[in-house]
Amino acid sequence: MKHPMRWLKLLLTFSFLFSLTSCFEKLPMTTVHSVTKWGSEINELYLLTTVIVTLVFFAVAIPFCYAIWKFRAREGDTRMPKQIHGNHKLEILWTLIPVVLLVFIFIPTVELILKGYEEPPKDTMKIEAIAHQWWWEFKYPDLGITTANEMWVPEDQHVSITLKSADVIHSFWIPRWGGKVDNLPGEEKMISYVTPTVEDPVGGDYYQGHCVELCGLSHARMRFQAVVLTKDRFNSWAKTAMNPPAVTTALEKKGQELFMSKTCFTCHTIEGTAAKGLVGPDLTNLGNRKMLAAGTLPNDGKGMHQWLRDSVDSKPPYQNVKPGSLMVFGEGFELTDEDIKALSAYLLNSTAKTY
Ligand code: CUA
Repeated sequence: MKHPMRWLKLLLTFSFLFSLTSCFEKLPMTTVHSVTKWGSEINELYLLTTVIVTLVFFAVAIPFCYAIWKFRAREGDTRMPKQIHGNHKLEILWTLIPVVLLVFIFIPTVELILKGYEEPPKDTMKIEAIAHQWWWEFKYPDLGITTANEMWVPEDQHVSITLKSADVIHSFWIPRWGGKVDNLPGEEKMISYVTPTVEDPVGGDYYQGHCVELCGLSHARMRFQAVVLTKDRFNSWAKTAMNPPAVTTALEKKGQELFMSKTCFTCHTIEGTAAKGLVGPDLTNLGNRKMLAAGTLPNDGKGMHQWLRDSVDSKPPYQNVKPGSLMVFGEGFELTDEDIKALSAYLLNSTAKTY
């Protein structure tokens, strides 16, 4: 290594910046500022482990560096150092110390893992999170609600989320809630939380979620939001979530006709209409969602335009917005900008924010 000091400085700068970024509480993907009790417990365990390994690091590194310096070769000194073979006392000691330290880490770790398997209380809200390439479907079997890419929950509520996959292995992760469990095809897994208390009772709190198992071309664009509302607001959202769109304006009506005559209805479901497709996300309450295409674009006229335009114009799997996505149309399929405006009006305005 030519410039050891330069490398050391670089390394220190990087570690400083890294620790700084993880300190920002509001970073959506931070894992060290958990908002759930379970997540905080995981962080406490993480802290305990970090303290122990840091102490071990210094306990080894300091004598090691001292020995290198103290017993270094000096000029003109050609004597052979004293040769030592084995020291039972020391060997037993440095076997026992790690064993004791591992026991200190092992006990709380197992305790915390077992907590994840505890029987959930009776008032637990059941949610199914079904992973698809590359979006998330959320079902509320007791409420009869199906939504996509946004998991809406009331605050301070036990929720138990059954994880499934429609195709390959995905992984469910909300960094600020703690925990991370795979969605496996043909198998069900479970993750449970007590949802955090709402900080913004008006707008609700949005927590970023992401698929964390490499699952194909658009794995990086497989995000979702966990949306926490006050209990009252959640109840009114639940009441209207599956209301069919109320089509009022001429533009919305045109959009609805396009939706039912073009290929849209073969892949998507909209409650109360002939659209019963199961390939893509349920679009019944699309107007209530913040993002489109699994967190890739904002769910507004502009985002919708970009999403539809790209899906019509680009050849799969080379789409610009979401490579490999199944949101594609056949050869010769046309959508004018006016068509897109009408579809936007139908999908966004007729399911206006009713919660
Ligand atoms: Cu799904 Cu990565």
